[in-house]
Amino acid sequence: MVIYHLSTECYPVAKVGGLADVVGALPKYQNKIKDIDAKVVMPWYNKPFVYEHEFDIVFDGFIHQGSNMLQVQILKEKTNVLGFELYMVKIPGLLDRDNPYGYQDESFQFLAFQHGVLHWLSAMEIRPDVLHCHDYHTGLVPFMIENCPEFVFLKGVKTIGTIHNGEYQGMMSWDMANYMPFFDSYKWGLLDWNGYINPLASMIKCCTAFTTVSQGYLEELFVSFRGLESLVRDEFGKAYGIINGIDTEVWNPETDPMLDFNFNINNAVLQKKKNKEKLCKEYGLKPELPLFAFIGRFATEKGADFLPDVVWKSIKQSYGTLNIMILGSGNTYIENKLKEYDYTYTNFALDLGYKEHLSHKIYASADFLLMPSRVEPCGLNQMYSMRYGTVPIVRYTGGLRDTVEDISTGGAGINFTYPGVDDILHAMNRAMGIFTQKETMENLIHANMGFDFAWEKSAEKYIALYKN
Ligand code: ADP
Ligand code: GLC
Repeated sequence: MVIYHLSTECYPVAKVGGLADVVGALPKYQNKIKDIDAKVVMPWYNKPFVYEHEFDIVFDGFIHQGSNMLQVQILKEKTNVLGFELYMVKIPGLLDRDNPYGYQDESFQFLAFQHGVLHWLSAMEIRPDVLHCHDYHTGLVPFMIENCPEFVFLKGVKTIGTIHNGEYQGMMSWDMANYMPFFDSYKWGLLDWNGYINPLASMIKCCTAFTTVSQGYLEELFVSFRGLESLVRDEFGKAYGIINGIDTEVWNPETDPMLDFNFNINNAVLQKKKNKEKLCKEYGLKPELPLFAFIGRFATEKGADFLPDVVWKSIKQSYGTLNIMILGSGNTYIENKLKEYDYTYTNFALDLGYKEHLSHKIYASADFLLMPSRVEPCGLNQMYSMRYGTVPIVRYTGGLRDTVEDISTGGAGINFTYPGVDDILHAMNRAMGIFTQKETMENLIHANMGFDFAWEKSAEKYIALYKN
């Protein structure tokens, strides 16, 4: 069975968030299953990876976007170093940029990416068994293969749409239809949602089946989905919740080259302490005090707007008996507020930016990881932290409620229900209490490290779905 994963991110080629981690791991684990050939197709960006690896040009052609003619090259990485065949779509002037997102013409970019992929597959008469589309950036593919005569060769190919984040739907005005491959205008209803072309809505309408990255999140979408609640209810029959796994080869505290002191479940207590001491020294924190960490995008869906108040209130209320460290970037107001507190409080350390190495060190060093998300379709941070013996403190939502159970009911994490500063502080107080009980804390480190979030089970679930 041949599967093509279409995505705008893939670790380690280009990563903005968890989408990259999933697309960099799922195909690799699918390929370990008999008779499965999973590949990845993504845009060609100006990233170190593309200069450090060799590629073959396997296709060179043109597509039309309105009256513009765009060159499309497909480059295949030569060595399959990632555990799957990697194809990159190079569209000079449109996709060959430094980052996946953040450009004013992104609707044109994603349209061209999808058009380019389908043009290549049709022209070369490559007919996969499944096209697996990730998020709205590839959400128009199921519509296009069924309704655009240009891709008639692909008609009938099964499509899976995975919703990693329903907060982003890629809505665009109907003018953009002029830049899409030709389709009969009476098909407009398959693209439309409330007067806009909505790629995520179109994906749900047109795909063979769609998945969310946890069962908990799927249940929430029926109630709250930025306007698509009724659609997801109508299409319930083809909806599946499949929890993400983590790549235990990349995220292995015993071999992780990004850690100062590697460890396994037997020496975790001691080695984590050494990691913590080193990190605290570098950032002027106090290693004898509990270390709470946050890693992620400064977005309201992540509850990052609570962080400034959480920082000053928790330090004040605890009379300076805890450390907080934050790694991330995003909303400028949050960044500035946190910078201010970074100057004010010695118990607080801030590192702004995207730093893969530092994130691994923090997962290995912290005692507690904060995830006060308002919305969390799956969340990978909590699973990384658990694998590295760090206790997750999470809001009970989406994938977080599917992966973290509170210690009061036999789990190894801390849950809270309401997304707000007071509830976060209350959860942190509980954590402070636990931190003083040496044996309980050590048991929690071991219990967290014992959880199995490996991809194998979920990779099998996707294969079962494709076969179905
Ligand atoms: P999302 O994709 O919504 O941001 P996830 O929990 O699925 O959330 O995945 C986030 C991924 O991005 C994790 O691998 C996390 O370690 C990483 N990450 C987020 N922010 C940063 C950062 N500032 N530096 C390094 N890694 C980060
Ligand atoms: C999205 C979600 C996150 C999820 C990730 C990978 O970025 O916000 O919760 O873990 O996709 O599926």
